[in-house]
Amino acid sequence: MEKMIKSEGKNLITTYSWFNDTAVIEEFLYSIDEIALNLPEDITLLGLGSSVGNLDYAVKQHLEEKYNKVVRMTITDRYTADTVKREGVRVLDVENKSLPFTDESFDLVIARSVTHYEKTKEDENSVLTEIKRVLKPNGIFITEAPFFSNKNDVELLKKIHSLVSKNMNLKTYDELVSLHKEIFSTVLIAKKQPSIPLKTEKTNFNKRYGISEGDSIDTEITKLISAYRTQDIASVWSRDNDFGWTVNFAILINQK
Ligand SMILES: C[S@@+](CC[C@H](N)C(=O)[O-])C[C@H]1O[C@@H](n2cnc3c(N)ncnc32)[C@H](O)[C@@H]1O
Repeated sequence: MEKMIKSEGKNLITTYSWFNDTAVIEEFLYSIDEIALNLPEDITLLGLGSSVGNLDYAVKQHLEEKYNKVVRMTITDRYTADTVKREGVRVLDVENKSLPFTDESFDLVIARSVTHYEKTKEDENSVLTEIKRVLKPNGIFITEAPFFSNKNDVELLKKIHSLVSKNMNLKTYDELVSLHKEIFSTVLIAKKQPSIPLKTEKTNFNKRYGISEGDSIDTEITKLISAYRTQDIASVWSRDNDFGWTVNFAILINQK
């Protein structure tokens, strides 16, 4: 992600590393709190498209420390060269469209910001079907993906941000939910996440949140996250329909 955005010459991300952003990871852990009591004492956990693995490992620690669970963890990505090696965690190079696991292997699968990288709806559908196959009955899948409030915003993003959109299957909120509903029995919207707007569309947004031209990306993101924490971004978003890079929601999918 970082490399992709930099290669566009937009320099959207400089020193900021989303993978290590503890505030963003913390928000995700609220989704875990919502489902922790539905998990067994001894959990098999799969972190899919995990990259460095920080978020997925934080979930394991959270379940162990806060809920006294025993967590047996597998972390995968198509390139695990950057994945941090951690004691007791299995790390595998894996392509999501064909998972090398037997049916019904995992109690919990996490894929934050992963499945929308499939270029077509069919490919994304294959990944979701694989996730469902490896989940145990009543297992839970937690995902987080970008969506846009309407079709115009999706098309606008494709124009402005062609390199990124070419590599992603961008959707409206309704499309995102219906894609998951085709495959999983229960789809629950769990938690709003901070949104980071596109540079080119940001003038009004920046004014509202006191972001100046000279601010570093770290300062911008700190301000946005603080606005999010007061619930301002979420409400402004739906009221004014500001256009953003992502408006992330975690979705809990509970397979029965
Ligand atoms: C934006 S990163 C998210 C990393 C991590 N889940 C997190 O939240 O910090 C997306 C990751 O998904 C992986 N990925 C995307 N599509 C994949 C596929 N079809 N098979 C395996 N990995 C994939 C990429 O290699 C990348 O590391």
